[in-house]
Amino acid sequence: MTLYHSASQILTLSGGPRRGHNMHNLAIVQDGAILVLDDKIIDVGPTEAMQLKYPQESPVDLHQKVVLPGFVDPHTHVVWAGDRAMEFEMRLAGKTYMEIMNAGGGIVSTVQATRQASFEELAKQTEDRLKRIFMNGTTTIEAKTGYGLDLETEIKQLQVLLHLDQKLPIDIVITFMGAHACPPEFTKNGQPDYSDYTKYQIETVLPAIHQWWQANAPQRPLPFVDVFCEQGAFTLEQSRAILTKAKQLGFPLKIHVDEFENLGGASLAAQLNATSADHMVKTGQQDILTLAQSETVAVGLPGTPFGLAQTEYTPAKALIQANAYLALATDCNPGTSWCEDMAFIIALACRQMKMTPPQAITAATINAAKALAQDDLVGSIEPGKQADFLILNTSDYRNLGYRFASPLISHVVKAGKLYPTGH
Ligand code: NIG
Ligand code: FE
Repeated sequence: MTLYHSASQILTLSGGPRRGHNMHNLAIVQDGAILVLDDKIIDVGPTEAMQLKYPQESPVDLHQKVVLPGFVDPHTHVVWAGDRAMEFEMRLAGKTYMEIMNAGGGIVSTVQATRQASFEELAKQTEDRLKRIFMNGTTTIEAKTGYGLDLETEIKQLQVLLHLDQKLPIDIVITFMGAHACPPEFTKNGQPDYSDYTKYQIETVLPAIHQWWQANAPQRPLPFVDVFCEQGAFTLEQSRAILTKAKQLGFPLKIHVDEFENLGGASLAAQLNATSADHMVKTGQQDILTLAQSETVAVGLPGTPFGLAQTEYTPAKALIQANAYLALATDCNPGTSWCEDMAFIIALACRQMKMTPPQAITAATINAAKALAQDDLVGSIEPGKQADFLILNTSDYRNLGYRFASPLISHVVKAGKLYPTGH
Protein backbone atom coordinates (compact mmCIF):
# COMPACT_ATOMS: atom_id res chain seq x y z
CA MET A 1 0.00 0.00 0.00
CA THR A 2 1.10 3.57 -0.61
CA LEU A 3 0.80 6.37 1.93
CA TYR A 4 0.69 9.79 0.26
CA HIS A 5 1.44 12.13 3.16
CA SER A 6 2.14 15.74 4.10
CA ALA A 7 -0.32 17.38 1.73
CA SER A 8 -0.97 20.97 2.85
CA GLN A 9 -4.68 20.48 2.23
CA ILE A 10 -6.67 17.51 1.02
CA LEU A 11 -9.95 18.70 -0.49
CA THR A 12 -11.80 15.47 0.20
CA LEU A 13 -15.27 16.58 -1.00
CA SER A 14 -16.50 13.74 1.22
CA GLY A 15 -20.17 13.42 2.07
CA GLY A 16 -21.73 13.21 -1.37
CA PRO A 17 -22.88 15.68 -4.03
CA ARG A 18 -23.86 19.11 -2.73
CA ARG A 19 -26.86 21.27 -3.46
CA GLY A 20 -26.34 25.03 -3.93
CA HIS A 21 -25.99 26.23 -0.36
CA ASN A 22 -23.60 23.44 0.59
CA MET A 23 -21.30 23.82 -2.38
CA HIS A 24 -18.82 25.89 -0.40
CA ASN A 25 -17.95 22.87 1.78
CA LEU A 26 -14.82 21.15 0.47
CA ALA A 27 -14.40 18.98 3.61
CA ILE A 28 -10.71 19.84 3.86
CA VAL A 29 -8.21 17.76 5.84
CA GLN A 30 -5.29 20.02 6.77
CA ASP A 31 -1.81 18.43 6.59
CA GLY A 32 -3.37 15.28 5.24
CA ALA A 33 -2.49 11.80 4.06
CA ILE A 34 -4.18 9.22 1.80
CA LEU A 35 -3.66 5.47 1.93
CA VAL A 36 -4.05 3.74 -1.44
CA LEU A 37 -4.21 0.04 -2.29
CA ASP A 38 -4.16 -0.82 -6.00
CA ASP A 39 -6.82 1.42 -7.58
CA LYS A 40 -8.72 2.26 -4.37
CA ILE A 41 -8.58 4.74 -1.51
CA ILE A 42 -8.39 2.90 1.81
CA ASP A 43 -8.14 5.72 4.34
CA VAL A 44 -7.79 9.50 4.61
CA GLY A 45 -6.75 11.59 7.63
CA PRO A 46 -4.18 13.94 9.19
CA THR A 47 -0.60 12.95 8.36
CA GLU A 48 0.53 12.36 11.93
CA ALA A 49 -2.31 10.04 12.79
CA MET A 50 -2.05 8.21 9.48
CA GLN A 51 1.71 7.65 9.89
CA LEU A 52 1.12 6.16 13.33
CA LYS A 53 -1.69 3.98 12.03
CA TYR A 54 0.19 2.75 8.93
CA PRO A 55 3.93 2.78 9.78
CA GLN A 56 4.83 0.02 7.28
CA GLU A 57 3.35 1.38 4.07
CA SER A 58 5.53 2.87 1.34
CA PRO A 59 5.52 6.65 1.77
CA VAL A 60 5.22 9.37 -0.87
CA ASP A 61 5.96 12.85 0.51
CA LEU A 62 3.64 15.47 -1.00
CA HIS A 63 5.75 18.38 0.31
CA GLN A 64 2.86 20.56 1.46
CA LYS A 65 1.05 20.54 -1.88
CA VAL A 66 -2.72 20.62 -2.35
CA VAL A 67 -4.52 17.38 -3.24
CA LEU A 68 -8.03 17.28 -4.67
CA PRO A 69 -10.19 14.75 -6.55
CA GLY A 70 -9.49 14.27 -10.25
CA PHE A 71 -11.72 16.51 -12.35
CA VAL A 72 -14.83 14.94 -13.80
CA ASP A 73 -15.83 16.58 -17.09
CA PRO A 74 -19.50 15.65 -17.54
CA HIS A 75 -20.19 17.15 -20.99
CA THR A 76 -18.01 16.85 -24.09
CA HIS A 77 -18.30 16.07 -27.78
CA VAL A 78 -14.68 14.95 -27.90
CA VAL A 79 -14.97 12.39 -30.71
CA TRP A 80 -14.85 14.35 -33.97
CA ALA A 81 -12.67 14.80 -37.05
CA GLY A 82 -11.29 18.04 -38.50
CA ASP A 83 -11.73 21.57 -37.21
CA ARG A 84 -13.87 24.68 -37.78
CA ALA A 85 -11.28 27.44 -37.55
CA MET A 86 -12.92 29.08 -40.57
CA GLU A 87 -16.23 29.47 -38.72
CA PHE A 88 -14.42 31.12 -35.85
CA GLU A 89 -13.36 33.85 -38.24
CA MET A 90 -16.89 34.10 -39.69
CA ARG A 91 -18.29 34.61 -36.20
CA LEU A 92 -15.75 37.29 -35.44
CA ALA A 93 -16.89 38.98 -38.64
CA GLY A 94 -20.44 39.08 -37.25
CA LYS A 95 -22.23 35.83 -38.21
CA THR A 96 -24.04 34.04 -35.36
CA TYR A 97 -23.62 30.37 -34.48
CA MET A 98 -27.17 29.60 -35.60
CA GLU A 99 -26.78 31.55 -38.88
CA ILE A 100 -23.72 29.47 -39.73
CA MET A 101 -25.56 26.28 -38.78
CA ASN A 102 -28.59 27.19 -40.92
CA ALA A 103 -26.31 27.90 -43.88
CA GLY A 104 -25.04 24.31 -43.78
CA GLY A 105 -21.98 24.95 -41.62
CA GLY A 106 -21.81 24.22 -37.92
CA ILE A 107 -22.46 20.73 -36.63
CA VAL A 108 -23.16 19.38 -40.13
CA SER A 109 -19.72 20.38 -41.42
CA THR A 110 -18.11 18.36 -38.62
CA VAL A 111 -20.53 15.54 -39.47
CA GLN A 112 -19.12 15.48 -43.00
CA ALA A 113 -15.52 15.31 -41.74
CA THR A 114 -16.41 12.63 -39.18
CA ARG A 115 -18.22 10.50 -41.75
CA GLN A 116 -15.22 10.66 -44.07
CA ALA A 117 -12.64 9.77 -41.40
CA SER A 118 -11.64 6.12 -41.05
CA PHE A 119 -11.94 4.48 -37.63
CA GLU A 120 -8.15 4.84 -37.24
CA GLU A 121 -8.10 8.55 -38.14
CA LEU A 122 -11.01 9.33 -35.87
CA ALA A 123 -9.46 7.32 -33.03
CA LYS A 124 -6.10 9.07 -33.45
CA GLN A 125 -7.52 12.61 -33.38
CA THR A 126 -9.68 11.77 -30.37
CA GLU A 127 -6.85 10.01 -28.54
CA ASP A 128 -4.56 13.03 -28.91
CA ARG A 129 -7.21 15.25 -27.32
CA LEU A 130 -7.94 12.79 -24.52
CA LYS A 131 -4.25 12.52 -23.63
CA ARG A 132 -3.99 16.30 -23.25
CA ILE A 133 -7.26 16.40 -21.30
CA PHE A 134 -5.95 13.73 -18.91
CA MET A 135 -2.72 15.64 -18.31
CA ASN A 136 -4.90 18.67 -17.51
CA GLY A 137 -6.38 16.68 -14.62
CA THR A 138 -9.59 15.19 -15.98
CA THR A 139 -9.73 11.60 -14.79
CA THR A 140 -13.32 10.84 -15.88
CA ILE A 141 -14.90 12.34 -18.99
CA GLU A 142 -18.27 12.10 -20.65
CA ALA A 143 -18.19 11.90 -24.46
CA LYS A 144 -21.09 12.15 -26.86
CA THR A 145 -21.65 10.85 -30.35
CA GLY A 146 -23.64 13.16 -32.63
CA TYR A 147 -21.20 13.90 -35.45
CA GLY A 148 -22.35 10.86 -37.41
CA LEU A 149 -26.12 11.25 -37.53
CA ASP A 150 -26.28 8.08 -39.61
CA LEU A 151 -26.19 4.72 -37.91
CA GLU A 152 -22.87 3.70 -39.41
CA THR A 153 -20.94 6.77 -38.25
CA GLU A 154 -22.68 7.00 -34.89
CA ILE A 155 -21.59 3.41 -34.27
CA LYS A 156 -18.07 4.25 -35.43
CA GLN A 157 -18.01 6.98 -32.78
CA LEU A 158 -19.23 4.51 -30.13
CA GLN A 159 -16.53 2.05 -31.19
CA VAL A 160 -13.81 4.70 -30.95
CA LEU A 161 -14.95 5.62 -27.44
CA LEU A 162 -15.14 2.01 -26.26
CA HIS A 163 -11.68 1.38 -27.74
CA LEU A 164 -10.09 4.47 -26.14
CA ASP A 165 -11.72 3.76 -22.78
CA GLN A 166 -9.84 0.45 -22.80
CA LYS A 167 -6.60 1.88 -24.13
CA LEU A 168 -6.16 5.08 -22.10
CA PRO A 169 -6.09 5.64 -18.32
CA ILE A 170 -8.93 8.20 -18.49
CA ASP A 171 -12.41 6.77 -17.84
CA ILE A 172 -14.96 7.53 -20.54
CA VAL A 173 -18.69 7.68 -19.86
CA ILE A 174 -20.52 7.40 -23.16
CA THR A 175 -23.58 9.29 -24.42
CA PHE A 176 -25.48 8.57 -27.62
CA MET A 177 -26.59 11.82 -29.29
CA GLY A 178 -28.19 10.93 -32.61
CA ALA A 179 -30.43 13.96 -31.97
CA HIS A 180 -27.61 16.52 -32.17
CA ALA A 181 -28.77 18.03 -35.49
CA CYS A 182 -30.72 17.05 -38.58
CA PRO A 183 -28.42 15.60 -41.28
CA PRO A 184 -28.57 16.72 -44.95
CA GLU A 185 -30.29 13.50 -46.09
CA PHE A 186 -33.40 14.60 -44.15
CA THR A 187 -34.43 17.68 -46.11
CA LYS A 188 -37.84 18.95 -47.16
CA ASN A 189 -38.30 21.98 -49.42
CA GLY A 190 -34.65 22.85 -48.95
CA GLN A 191 -35.01 22.91 -45.12
CA PRO A 192 -33.81 20.35 -42.57
CA ASP A 193 -36.72 18.03 -41.78
CA TYR A 194 -36.47 17.70 -38.03
CA SER A 195 -39.86 16.11 -37.79
CA ASP A 196 -39.01 13.19 -40.09
CA TYR A 197 -35.56 12.80 -38.50
CA THR A 198 -37.17 12.69 -35.05
CA LYS A 199 -39.46 9.90 -36.23
CA TYR A 200 -36.44 8.02 -37.57
CA GLN A 201 -34.62 8.40 -34.23
CA ILE A 202 -37.60 7.04 -32.33
CA GLU A 203 -38.65 4.22 -34.61
CA THR A 204 -35.33 3.01 -35.96
CA VAL A 205 -32.21 4.47 -34.40
CA LEU A 206 -32.83 4.19 -30.66
CA PRO A 207 -33.93 0.53 -30.86
CA ALA A 208 -30.95 -0.23 -33.13
CA ILE A 209 -28.47 1.41 -30.74
CA HIS A 210 -30.03 -0.47 -27.84
CA GLN A 211 -29.54 -3.74 -29.68
CA TRP A 212 -26.03 -2.85 -30.83
CA TRP A 213 -24.99 -1.98 -27.31
CA GLN A 214 -26.24 -5.23 -25.86
CA ALA A 215 -24.41 -7.18 -28.53
CA ASN A 216 -21.16 -5.19 -28.37
CA ALA A 217 -20.79 -3.84 -24.83
CA PRO A 218 -22.99 -6.12 -22.71
CA GLN A 219 -20.73 -5.68 -19.68
CA ARG A 220 -21.35 -1.91 -19.57
CA PRO A 221 -24.50 -0.08 -18.48
CA LEU A 222 -26.46 1.53 -21.30
CA PRO A 223 -25.10 4.91 -22.47
CA PHE A 224 -26.89 8.18 -21.82
CA VAL A 225 -29.16 9.54 -24.53
CA ASP A 226 -28.95 13.31 -25.13
CA VAL A 227 -30.95 15.73 -27.34
CA PHE A 228 -30.16 19.28 -28.53
CA CYS A 229 -33.42 21.02 -27.51
CA GLU A 230 -33.13 24.43 -29.15
CA GLN A 231 -34.74 26.89 -31.54
CA GLY A 232 -33.42 25.72 -34.92
CA ALA A 233 -32.69 22.21 -33.62
CA PHE A 234 -35.15 19.85 -31.84
CA THR A 235 -38.35 21.41 -30.45
CA LEU A 236 -39.48 20.76 -26.90
CA GLU A 237 -42.03 18.22 -28.16
CA GLN A 238 -39.54 16.44 -30.41
CA SER A 239 -37.07 16.34 -27.51
CA ARG A 240 -39.75 14.97 -25.22
CA ALA A 241 -40.68 12.27 -27.73
CA ILE A 242 -37.08 11.14 -28.27
CA LEU A 243 -36.21 11.15 -24.58
CA THR A 244 -39.43 9.37 -23.63
CA LYS A 245 -38.65 6.59 -26.09
CA ALA A 246 -35.07 6.41 -24.78
CA LYS A 247 -36.36 6.15 -21.24
CA GLN A 248 -38.74 3.34 -22.20
CA LEU A 249 -35.76 1.45 -23.61
CA GLY A 250 -33.90 1.94 -20.32
CA PHE A 251 -31.38 4.62 -21.34
CA PRO A 252 -30.51 7.27 -18.72
CA LEU A 253 -31.06 10.82 -20.00
CA LYS A 254 -29.26 14.10 -20.58
CA ILE A 255 -30.46 17.17 -22.45
CA HIS A 256 -28.98 20.33 -24.01
CA VAL A 257 -31.31 23.16 -22.97
CA ASP A 258 -31.53 26.94 -23.25
CA GLU A 259 -28.14 27.45 -24.92
CA PHE A 260 -29.54 30.24 -27.14
CA GLU A 261 -33.32 30.36 -26.47
CA ASN A 262 -35.53 29.21 -23.63
CA LEU A 263 -37.82 26.43 -24.84
CA GLY A 264 -38.62 25.05 -21.38
CA GLY A 265 -36.18 22.16 -21.62
CA ALA A 266 -35.01 22.42 -18.02
CA SER A 267 -38.47 21.57 -16.70
CA LEU A 268 -38.70 18.73 -19.22
CA ALA A 269 -35.43 17.38 -17.83
CA ALA A 270 -36.83 17.47 -14.31
CA GLN A 271 -40.11 15.81 -15.39
CA LEU A 272 -38.28 12.99 -17.14
CA ASN A 273 -35.86 12.63 -14.24
CA ALA A 274 -32.90 13.26 -16.55
CA THR A 275 -29.51 12.86 -14.91
CA SER A 276 -28.50 16.35 -16.09
CA ALA A 277 -29.73 19.46 -17.93
CA ASP A 278 -26.84 21.17 -19.68
CA HIS A 279 -26.05 24.73 -20.85
CA MET A 280 -28.97 26.45 -19.03
CA VAL A 281 -27.98 29.93 -20.20
CA LYS A 282 -31.42 31.35 -21.04
CA THR A 283 -33.29 29.43 -18.36
CA GLY A 284 -36.07 31.36 -16.61
CA GLN A 285 -36.68 31.54 -12.87
CA GLN A 286 -39.64 29.13 -12.92
CA ASP A 287 -37.60 26.49 -14.72
CA ILE A 288 -34.75 27.01 -12.26
CA LEU A 289 -37.10 26.40 -9.33
CA THR A 290 -38.55 23.27 -10.97
CA LEU A 291 -35.10 21.92 -11.69
CA ALA A 292 -33.89 22.69 -8.17
CA GLN A 293 -36.63 20.52 -6.73
CA SER A 294 -35.48 17.52 -8.73
CA GLU A 295 -32.41 15.29 -8.66
CA THR A 296 -31.39 16.56 -12.11
CA VAL A 297 -27.99 18.28 -12.09
CA ALA A 298 -27.66 21.63 -13.90
CA VAL A 299 -24.42 21.61 -15.90
CA GLY A 300 -22.90 25.02 -16.67
CA LEU A 301 -20.61 25.21 -19.70
CA PRO A 302 -18.86 28.60 -19.47
CA GLY A 303 -16.42 27.65 -22.24
CA THR A 304 -19.32 27.94 -24.69
CA PRO A 305 -20.31 31.62 -24.27
CA PHE A 306 -16.61 32.39 -23.88
CA GLY A 307 -15.83 30.47 -27.08
CA LEU A 308 -18.63 32.30 -28.89
CA ALA A 309 -17.57 35.67 -27.43
CA GLN A 310 -21.00 36.06 -25.82
CA THR A 311 -21.64 37.80 -22.55
CA GLU A 312 -24.41 35.71 -21.03
CA TYR A 313 -23.53 32.70 -18.85
CA THR A 314 -25.41 30.06 -16.83
CA PRO A 315 -27.08 31.88 -13.90
CA ALA A 316 -25.11 30.11 -11.18
CA LYS A 317 -26.22 32.48 -8.42
CA ALA A 318 -29.91 31.82 -9.07
CA LEU A 319 -29.29 28.07 -9.27
CA ILE A 320 -27.33 28.11 -6.02
CA GLN A 321 -29.97 30.29 -4.36
CA ALA A 322 -32.65 27.79 -5.45
CA ASN A 323 -30.48 25.01 -3.97
CA ALA A 324 -30.03 23.10 -7.22
CA TYR A 325 -27.20 20.69 -7.94
CA LEU A 326 -24.75 22.59 -10.14
CA ALA A 327 -21.82 21.06 -12.06
CA LEU A 328 -19.31 22.43 -14.59
CA ALA A 329 -17.99 20.96 -17.84
CA THR A 330 -15.92 22.01 -20.87
CA ASP A 331 -18.42 21.13 -23.65
CA CYS A 332 -15.22 20.33 -25.60
CA ASN A 333 -16.31 20.47 -29.27
CA PRO A 334 -15.02 22.01 -32.51
CA GLY A 335 -17.83 24.54 -32.90
CA THR A 336 -18.32 26.47 -29.71
CA SER A 337 -15.74 25.44 -27.11
CA TRP A 338 -12.54 23.65 -28.06
CA CYS A 339 -11.42 23.63 -24.44
CA GLU A 340 -9.47 20.71 -22.98
CA ASP A 341 -8.90 22.14 -19.52
CA MET A 342 -11.25 21.97 -16.54
CA ALA A 343 -8.99 24.30 -14.51
CA PHE A 344 -9.67 27.00 -17.09
CA ILE A 345 -13.42 26.28 -16.80
CA ILE A 346 -13.13 26.80 -13.02
CA ALA A 347 -11.36 30.12 -13.62
CA LEU A 348 -14.09 31.19 -16.06
CA ALA A 349 -16.86 30.13 -13.68
CA CYS A 350 -15.33 32.23 -10.90
CA ARG A 351 -15.33 35.32 -13.07
CA GLN A 352 -18.31 35.01 -15.41
CA MET A 353 -20.67 32.93 -13.26
CA LYS A 354 -19.52 34.60 -10.02
CA MET A 355 -18.83 31.28 -8.34
CA THR A 356 -16.29 31.06 -5.50
CA PRO A 357 -13.33 28.67 -5.87
CA PRO A 358 -14.93 26.14 -3.45
CA GLN A 359 -18.23 26.22 -5.35
CA ALA A 360 -16.48 25.82 -8.70
CA ILE A 361 -14.26 22.99 -7.40
CA THR A 362 -17.33 21.19 -6.02
CA ALA A 363 -19.01 21.66 -9.41
CA ALA A 364 -16.00 20.18 -11.22
CA THR A 365 -15.63 17.11 -8.98
CA ILE A 366 -18.35 15.53 -6.83
CA ASN A 367 -21.28 17.33 -8.49
CA ALA A 368 -19.86 16.57 -11.93
CA ALA A 369 -19.70 12.92 -10.87
CA LYS A 370 -23.40 13.08 -9.99
CA ALA A 371 -24.09 14.55 -13.44
CA LEU A 372 -22.77 11.20 -14.75
CA ALA A 373 -24.31 9.01 -12.02
CA GLN A 374 -20.71 8.14 -11.05
CA ASP A 375 -20.75 9.75 -7.59
CA ASP A 376 -20.45 6.38 -5.84
CA LEU A 377 -17.19 5.73 -7.64
CA VAL A 378 -15.36 9.04 -8.23
CA GLY A 379 -15.50 12.78 -7.46
CA SER A 380 -14.24 12.70 -3.88
CA ILE A 381 -11.35 11.38 -1.77
CA GLU A 382 -13.01 8.88 0.54
CA PRO A 383 -12.38 5.28 1.57
CA GLY A 384 -13.80 2.91 -1.05
CA LYS A 385 -13.60 5.37 -3.93
CA GLN A 386 -11.33 5.02 -6.92
CA ALA A 387 -7.89 6.55 -6.24
CA ASP A 388 -8.25 9.44 -8.71
CA PHE A 389 -6.65 12.64 -7.44
CA LEU A 390 -4.52 15.59 -8.45
CA ILE A 391 -1.42 17.03 -6.84
CA LEU A 392 -1.12 20.78 -7.37
CA ASN A 393 2.01 22.89 -7.54
CA THR A 394 0.75 25.10 -4.73
CA SER A 395 -0.18 24.84 -1.05
CA ASP A 396 -3.36 26.99 -1.26
CA TYR A 397 -6.27 25.53 -3.21
CA ARG A 398 -7.66 28.97 -4.11
CA ASN A 399 -4.93 29.22 -6.73
CA LEU A 400 -7.39 27.12 -8.73
CA GLY A 401 -9.68 29.80 -10.07
CA TYR A 402 -7.35 32.64 -9.14
CA ARG A 403 -4.61 31.67 -11.60
CA PHE A 404 -5.67 30.72 -15.11
CA ALA A 405 -4.30 29.41 -18.38
CA SER A 406 -1.12 28.30 -16.65
CA PRO A 407 -0.66 24.70 -15.55
CA LEU A 408 -1.06 24.10 -11.81
CA ILE A 409 -1.10 20.31 -11.72
CA SER A 410 2.16 18.47 -11.09
CA HIS A 411 0.79 14.91 -10.93
CA VAL A 412 -2.36 13.05 -11.84
CA VAL A 413 -3.08 9.91 -9.82
CA LYS A 414 -5.50 7.71 -11.74
CA ALA A 415 -6.75 4.40 -10.35
CA GLY A 416 -3.77 4.47 -7.97
CA LYS A 417 -1.14 5.07 -10.67
CA LEU A 418 0.99 8.21 -10.57
CA TYR A 419 1.41 10.24 -13.80
CA PRO A 420 3.74 13.28 -13.73
CA THR A 421 2.44 16.07 -15.97
CA GLY A 422 5.85 17.67 -16.48
CA HIS A 423 4.76 20.84 -14.65
O1 NIG B 1 -22.92 21.98 -26.91
N1 NIG B 1 -25.17 22.71 -28.86
C1 NIG B 1 -24.88 21.72 -29.49
N2 NIG B 1 -23.72 21.12 -29.45
C2 NIG B 1 -22.50 21.77 -29.16
C3 NIG B 1 -21.91 22.44 -30.32
C4 NIG B 1 -21.55 21.46 -31.34
C5 NIG B 1 -20.90 22.01 -32.56
O2 NIG B 1 -21.03 23.22 -32.87
O3 NIG B 1 -20.23 21.22 -33.23
C6 NIG B 1 -22.61 22.60 -27.91
O4 NIG B 1 -22.38 23.81 -27.91
FE1 FE C 1 -22.77 20.24 -25.92
